[in-house]
This record gives sequence, C-alpha cells and structure tokens, in this order.
Amino acid sequence: MKALVYHGPGKKAWEEKAKPVIRDPTDVIVKITRTTICGTDLHILKGDVPEVTDGRILGHEGVGIIEEAGNAVTGFKKGDHVIISCISSCGKCSYCRRGMYSHCEKGGWILGHLIDGTQAEYTRIPFADTSLYHVPAGADEDALVMLSDILPTGFECGVLNGKVQPGCTVAIVGSGPIGLAALLTAQFYAPAEIIMIDPDNNRLNVAKKFGATKTINNSSEDAVKMLKEYTNGIGADTVIEAVGIPATFELCQQLVAPGGIIANIGVHGKSAELHLEDLWAKNITITTRLVDTVSTPMLLNTIQSKKLNSKQLITHHFKLADIVQAYDTFEHAARENALKVILSNN
Ligand SMILES: NC(=O)c1ccc[n+]([C@@H]2O[C@H](COP(=O)([O-])OP(=O)(O)OC[C@H]3O[C@@H](n4cnc5c(N)ncnc54)[C@H](O)[C@@H]3O)[C@@H](O)[C@H]2O)c1
Ligand SMILES: [Zn+2]
Ligand SMILES: [Zn+2]
Repeated sequence: MKALVYHGPGKKAWEEKAKPVIRDPTDVIVKITRTTICGTDLHILKGDVPEVTDGRILGHEGVGIIEEAGNAVTGFKKGDHVIISCISSCGKCSYCRRGMYSHCEKGGWILGHLIDGTQAEYTRIPFADTSLYHVPAGADEDALVMLSDILPTGFECGVLNGKVQPGCTVAIVGSGPIGLAALLTAQFYAPAEIIMIDPDNNRLNVAKKFGATKTINNSSEDAVKMLKEYTNGIGADTVIEAVGIPATFELCQQLVAPGGIIANIGVHGKSAELHLEDLWAKNITITTRLVDTVSTPMLLNTIQSKKLNSKQLITHHFKLADIVQAYDTFEHAARENALKVILSNN
C-alpha cells in the first residue's frame, strides 16, 4: 500500500509500505476513505515532536471502512463505515474509566505519533470498540472527518474548560481550524460576544462568517486596548488560547476579566511567562487539556441535526495520492486561504 511516511525533520514521502495486519484481537484494519492534515503534523515535520521516529506513517484523523476485525472486537465488523478518533482508548484503565481517554495507559494520542497513522490507504486501529464511531447511514464523510480531532479539541479544551455561558464574553486568540472549531461550538451556549484575534485577515473574515461578533487583527491593532473597549474595560470572561506560542499565552493573561478563565488549547514547545504580579488578586482560573474526544457522540448528533456545519472548515480537496501537494497547500495556509484539506481515497 501507499502511505505518507516521516523521515526526520523536514522530510516526508508518499511511498510503498507493508499493509498493516491485526496484531491484537482488539484491533481492526480500516481502509481509509477520507483523511486530513493537522497543525500537529506540521509540528512533527518541524522536529517539535521527537518521539515520532523515521519511518512512521503520519495522520490521526479520518473516516474509512473496516477491512478486517480482530476476534475480540464486538461493536464493529468487516464492511462497517467508521469515524476514527485521534485518541485511542482501552476503555478499561483508570484514566479511561474516568473519561480521560487522552491519558489512557495503553493508548491516548498514539496514531501517527507512536504507531502508524491514517495518512495511508490502510491503517490499524487498536482498541477498536472504544476508539471508533459508526458513521450514520447517508452521512457526509467530509463533515465527519472534523470529528476525529478539531471539533472535540475546540469544544473540550476551549469551550467546556472555558465554561462558556449564556451572555458571557469570549475571546479566542488564534483563528486557525482549532480556534474556529471553538468559535462554532461556543455558540451552543449563546455567549453575548465572541471576539476573534489573529494576524491573518482572511481567517478573521472566515471567523465573521462563522459567527464572531468582533474581530481584532493583532498585527495592526492593539488587541488589549480594543478588547477592553469592547468589554467596558473589563476583559473577557473566557479567553481561549488556540495558537501555542508564549506571546499568545501572555496576551491571554492581559485579556481575561476578573473571575474569568484562560483555557489553553495550544501545544506549547517553549515556556511562557505567568504574570502572577497582575493576576494574583483577579480570581482567575487557568486550564490545560489534551483532547479526550469524550464529546464526539454529542458533536456527531449536532452535525447530523444540522446544528453544527462542520463542512465549512474545509477549503481544499485532493486525492490521497496527491498528499505531498496537499501538505504544501496546508503549510502555506495564509497564501492559499487554507483551513482543513480533505484527502479522498475512493
Ligand atoms: N490540546 C490539544 O489536545 C490539541 C489538539 C490539537 C491541536 N492542538 C494545538 O492547537 C493549536 C492550534 O491548532 P490549529 O490547527 O488551529 O493551528 P494553525 O497553525 O492552523 O492556526 C494557528 C492560528 O494562530 C494564528 N496566530 C499566529 N500567531 C498569532 C499571534 N501572535 N496572535 C494571534 N494569532 C496568531 C495564525 O494566524 C493561525 O490562524 C496548535 O498549537 C495545535 O498544535 C492542541
Ligand atoms: Zn490533530
Ligand atoms: Zn485506557
């Protein structure tokens, strides 16, 4: 089969690999029909995730059809149409039993990281019963690919941790796919204001179409001054960090209102300063989280009932065999006006 293989920082190739086989009775083999590329794949290619070794097939998102199911799999069978979660969970360890699948003792984020991933014609999914979801009949595959990672990430790490409430003010720093997923799912709770902050005007225009009440371009505007103007000098009740660099985490600390929450989503490779000299008396909360994907069934319902239009996050389509070109488009997102790219293998 063909797969997108990582060969060390800056190096990747679409090349021949052995087709995966069942290793444990809880595994299934999935023929990939749709996959996509994540900002985290770009982090890997920059060398930011050193656990990923030469020869690893990348990718942790996708939809496909079960080609073969292990003997112990009871919830899925050959021919079933499935959504792959970016988090694999055994369902039995102490973390899984409290819904913290991201920290599963045998799973967690392993796909395209510690084991071969989904940017391939076939992939092996461990713990299939607790790591896959059935695709409802007639559902739109492209829309469901957004359930593998970005929608649960924006919702769980941003909206749920940030305790977005009716009538509150939300500021989201970063208007990439994850920030936009937080913007879309924050609207389940009817906040009064959602203010998006990003240096890319195209992404801010997208944010307006997706329901942002205000936008701030922080490369040309003073984000702190403008946010204070928009909030009667108070700041935002929920501030969501969706970039992953020290500057944006520090900006969040200047945007949060007394009593507010900073909900960090970004993957940080460097330490960021915590300004306790400003924050100690402000009654704020800071949260961090690796996505658990516990909200996937609920988010699937909102897509199926058309309360959530996840397809609007998709800007480009490629054949899976053209994935190297798709990476180029995704890597130059500002130039290409790209959000999520869909790779199809039909
Ligand atoms: N916690 C988790 O479980 C989890 C899961 C998936 C992704 N992530 C992380 O979430 C983050 C966002 O992911 P993404 O795919 O949307 O990334 P992305 O790179 O596509 O988007 C980041 C956005 O931030 C903007 N930006 C850059 N510098 C900025 C600044 N100084 N101020 C404001 N905005 C700025 C960019 O213009 C871009 O629109 C990444 O760090 C990713 O690794 C975390
Ligand atoms: Zn991802
Ligand atoms: Zn577990």
